[in-house]
Amino acid sequence: MQRLTNKQIVLGITGGIAAYKSAELTRLLKGAGADVQVVMTPAAIEFITPLTLQALSGHPVHQHLLDPDAEAGMGHIELAKWADMVLIAPASADFMARLNSGQGNDLLSTICLATDAPIVLAPAMNQAMWRDPQTQSNATNLQTKGIRLLGPGVGEQACGDTGPGRMLDPLEIAEQTAALFDRGLLTGKHVFITAGPTREAIDPVRYISNHSSGKMGYALAEAALDAGAQVTLISGPVNLPAPPRCQRIMIESAAQMLTASLQHIDQCDIFIAAAAVADYRPSAVAEHKLKKGKEEIMELHLIKNPDIVASVAALHNKPFTVGFAAETRDVIHYAQSKLQQKNLDLIIANDVSRSDIGFNSDDNAVTVVSQSQTQPLPLCSKRQLAAQLIEIIAIQQAALSSDHTPMPEKS
Ligand code: C5P
Repeated sequence: MQRLTNKQIVLGITGGIAAYKSAELTRLLKGAGADVQVVMTPAAIEFITPLTLQALSGHPVHQHLLDPDAEAGMGHIELAKWADMVLIAPASADFMARLNSGQGNDLLSTICLATDAPIVLAPAMNQAMWRDPQTQSNATNLQTKGIRLLGPGVGEQACGDTGPGRMLDPLEIAEQTAALFDRGLLTGKHVFITAGPTREAIDPVRYISNHSSGKMGYALAEAALDAGAQVTLISGPVNLPAPPRCQRIMIESAAQMLTASLQHIDQCDIFIAAAAVADYRPSAVAEHKLKKGKEEIMELHLIKNPDIVASVAALHNKPFTVGFAAETRDVIHYAQSKLQQKNLDLIIANDVSRSDIGFNSDDNAVTVVSQSQTQPLPLCSKRQLAAQLIEIIAIQQAALSSDHTPMPEKS
């Protein structure tokens, strides 16, 4: 493991018995080429001496927020700016709670507030404390804010309990830390993905919808996250959990999906429309539940919904825009004409007349269609397909944006 050469890591140590493992972690990070500055909370010092960490890191250990000597040398802002990563191992339940609520009441929490570097936590606590709903909610919120969690592991604990809450082994933390520095294809990009069906209300209890499961859109969100992107998932009603680390906005109707899509569109680099949007909605929503009448036929007036992906693609500064085309015949031909009509950069065409792929299935086979080429991707799981699609999308978006980058002026 030599992937940490020249990387500057602030290693935060909070109070917990696992703090003794931080000595080994410091040694491993240094051995992999990193420069490590250790910051300890007052509780951490009860478990391991700063002298040990000073000897292993080769730097004085930072302990106090209001320390005139430290402020003259490496104070909290300097440390926050110096860090390529803030790694906190062990991260106690108390520290996670303070970090989640944005407190800056000791040196380590202040560094977390002040840094632009990625923050990574290796939680360590008793299994009951980890399972506590408040800790779980803190963990979820921290992940939503882009903070990575490594572990915790499951097993026997220092207190004699068995369960989740053990800090991962130092070698595993060091390896995962190094892997985080490997830049993904979409690092620094913000990807918006629409997913699932929309519901168009008829009256307070009835709606028009479709069988979309959202699986393809959610798989794309996971693949984009794995490629390092920040992801906003705009989802209709589905039975799927939000992928960790992504911001999910739940909507019902096409009109709500359009509003959510456009709200922060100026921050979006890539827009992927995987939702099965209802083409029409009832022209009026009845205020009260419609009663069964004597008539044999009931007429419902429908009006056209806005086309979300076309609205995004019509923007002056449009993101790289990708649509889906579910067709039952002449798949490529219809996909090509949709690509033109909606002003898309790519369209992913699939043949929904086949029973083994599409809407509710776990598998899919598609053809990626752009202005210049068509590329078939054979049948595989939606997960595998999503990874391939994200790679194609990332490469094409990068190629297009470098085409659009103005040439530097000659001096
Ligand atoms: O025109 P059609 O519905 O076949 O186009 C499918 C593509 O357009 C999908 O990417 C879908 O998410 C998107 N779409 C949309 N808004 C609509 C209808 C479709 O964004 N109202």
